[in-house]
Amino acid sequence: MRAVDKLDLRVADGEFLVLVGPSGSGKSTALRMLAGLEDVDEGSVLIGGRDVTTEAPKDRDIAMVFQSYALYPHMTVAENMGFALKLQRLPKARIAERVAEAARLLDLTPYLDRRPRALSGGQRQRVAMGRAIVREPSVFLMDEPLSNLDAKLRVETRANITALQSRLGTTTLYVTHDQVEAMTMGHRVAVLRDGVLQQCATPRELYDRPGNTFVAGFIGSPAMNLVTVTVGDDGALLADDLVVPLPRGAVSGPEVVLGVRPEGLRLVGEGGLAMTVQLVEELGADAFVYGEAMINGAAKRIVVRVSDGALPAFGETVRVALREPHRVHLFDPATGVRNP
Ligand SMILES: Nc1ncnc2c1ncn2[C@@H]1O[C@H](COP(=O)(O)OP(=O)(O)OP(=O)(O)O)[C@@H](O)[C@H]1O
Ligand SMILES: [Mg+2]
Repeated sequence: MRAVDKLDLRVADGEFLVLVGPSGSGKSTALRMLAGLEDVDEGSVLIGGRDVTTEAPKDRDIAMVFQSYALYPHMTVAENMGFALKLQRLPKARIAERVAEAARLLDLTPYLDRRPRALSGGQRQRVAMGRAIVREPSVFLMDEPLSNLDAKLRVETRANITALQSRLGTTTLYVTHDQVEAMTMGHRVAVLRDGVLQQCATPRELYDRPGNTFVAGFIGSPAMNLVTVTVGDDGALLADDLVVPLPRGAVSGPEVVLGVRPEGLRLVGEGGLAMTVQLVEELGADAFVYGEAMINGAAKRIVVRVSDGALPAFGETVRVALREPHRVHLFDPATGVRNP
């Protein structure tokens, strides 16, 4: 098996591209190939039009930020940040200048003389960023740089990194397994599964028009409801008395996978589909109601977003209907590919 297979990605100059996928999908491997830390068996890696496939990591004009920041414990923040420049034999004054500038950008100026062990997790993360910034590379590669931070700090740092990236305008490839991080940070998001690129598009496009059932289920939380149903003359049959009309000729086979996001469903007084409530997740502004419904003869787990009105109780039977029947997602049951 290949860790990464036929990955064809073009990252625009100045773009922030996020690679997202489950654990083991080949994200780190792809990034390490770009960095030159992993060999490429087939194909090539180009940076700014220059073929760097056989170039050593240090000649690729990239800077990498890892999940483990790997700061040198015996060096100060300033020394950590300037170390790569020292190796490049830059004059001391130039190093000090660049370190000061990066420290200013990252709010690290007060900490320049401290050692890493006297910093918080978030501050260490910023030092790791600083080490990459001072090198003024043409590309940043970041592999889950926020995974060591707690939830609140992660959200803050997320915003800081995107702001910094747009200020510097440096082309950035950012790896995460967190789809929320991907959607909020990326200009475009590339979804990987088992080393194979599933779709690369803007966050909006991924959400509104997922290219296959994997992307449909992976992007968005809670996940899109996906059910395989029989296609009749009038449309997709959810139950004996419940048909979702489909555009004429939209589906050729006897079955289709129907996808509806939780916000595409609503609770209704009558009609719709009967669902037994199994869990109510109240989030303040809205709530998610999970339950089981008989669809096409089989019990299916369904989730509905409820943003107003009373919430049902556990065990209650509610009725669920589509908000906009013409806006369901359709996928091929054999291949999972979106039906345009
Ligand atoms: N050095 C290696 N030798 C052989 N297989 C490897 C090696 N490194 C990774 N793999 C395999 O390649 C696949 C992709 O691994 P990779 O580390 O790129 O995944 P990932 O998407 O970064 O996952 P995670 O989110 O867990 O970091 C996995 O199946 C992994 O077991
Ligand atoms: Mg990884």
